Amino acid sequence: AVDINKLRDLTGFITLDPGYKNSGSCTSEITFLDGELGILRYRGYSIEDLAEQASFPEVSYLLIFGELPTAQQLAQFDADIKKHTLVNEEMKNIIDGFPKTAHPMGVLSALTSALTAFNPKSVNVENEKEMYDAVCKTIAKFLVIATWTYRKTMGYPLNYYDNTIGYVENFMQLMFKLPTGPYAANPIVVNALDKLFILHGDHEQNCSTSTVRMVGSSHAGLFASISAGVSALWGPLHGGANQAVLEMLEEINKDGGDTDKFMAKAKDKNDPFRLMGFGHRVYKNFDPRARIIKKAADEVLNTLGVDDPILAIAKKLEAAALEDEYFKSRSLYPNVDFYSGIIYRALGIPTDMFTVMFAIGRLPGWIAQWKEMRENKEPIGRPRQIYTGHPLREFKSNK
Ligand code: ACO
Repeated sequence: AVDINKLRDLTGFITLDPGYKNSGSCTSEITFLDGELGILRYRGYSIEDLAEQASFPEVSYLLIFGELPTAQQLAQFDADIKKHTLVNEEMKNIIDGFPKTAHPMGVLSALTSALTAFNPKSVNVENEKEMYDAVCKTIAKFLVIATWTYRKTMGYPLNYYDNTIGYVENFMQLMFKLPTGPYAANPIVVNALDKLFILHGDHEQNCSTSTVRMVGSSHAGLFASISAGVSALWGPLHGGANQAVLEMLEEINKDGGDTDKFMAKAKDKNDPFRLMGFGHRVYKNFDPRARIIKKAADEVLNTLGVDDPILAIAKKLEAAALEDEYFKSRSLYPNVDFYSGIIYRALGIPTDMFTVMFAIGRLPGWIAQWKEMRENKEPIGRPRQIYTGHPLREFKSNK
């Protein structure tokens, strides 16, 4: 064990805060979050109002540029995104090089980084027009390559953005349109996805966002910084939680579907099993995003009329936990990952793609945070450490 007082004598005063749990890394005007009270706001607007009344492109504009767009600004933003929806054809050679079994997040991170090669000019953040173009370009191309990661795993031909329809409808057609016929996305599904993307838009200084700021603080470009954010999000402790929900539901199903048995396991302190998708590190009373998305999840399930034992288990667990003393007394409610996992499953999106969905939603937050960090002229991120290795040793070769 490390004797902290001895170390202080050796090193002077350095605050040791593994995981930066109590260290603020920046000031930010983007997202306000109060875990105790269950409050989440983007640029001062409540997440409830935004999810109910705004669209994902509108919220993206708000996060990135600080104010809600006027109708004209929003139409222009949409048109400007559409100018950039073609991805260089040579990017297809890169995607061809991956095995079909590659994890979509690894492919997404690599393709995002590869965009730098095709768009090498680094953006001058002080030039409003250049920054605006870089934002539109990133939002346009990221959606296309994100859906390509799915088409790759399915072995389907890659689709192009359809400039006659909106951003979220485009997500659906880029993913699911087959060459054999026309495609029209179900408006209830589009509405649910629009909300889900809004709810994932930003969450202040989480691991992937801090990564984007940190990489960008060396003045690395936007695509390179976002590619690093994708890698950070990939980890099971961050973006992988909704995948864990589905894996748990599948495990319960394989075991015979007895939800009571798994509820009992979750409550047993000698059993490491936890009910995935319940509880939250930050939201200690309720997850405001979960309340909003529960309604959308119910609508999607009713509309699609999906008959799926996995989803039936999810509904049973949700009902049981909401009535259960153990869960109630610890304020363990289903979180946003629980419901997003259910919606994705109902839409036929494979579990591997769940974190990619998260990344599509988080993109405007990453861009907004990167832009803010550069505009604030933040110094390069360079934490200190407390050295606990050998003192000076005399060199004697072991050869
Ligand atoms: N199932 C069963 N019991 C649980 C669960 C759960 N999902 N979550 C918390 N508890 C219990 C704990 O055992 C503890 O019980 P005790 O008071 O008798 O000791 C009590 O509830 C309080 O929980 P903590 O562990 O203190 O809560 P913490 O803030 O450390 O953990 C976490 C939060 C990690 C999210 C936890 O609730 C969990 O593991 N949930 C399942 C995984 C999940 O869905 N993660 C995604 C959340 S998104 C995010 O946080 C990034």
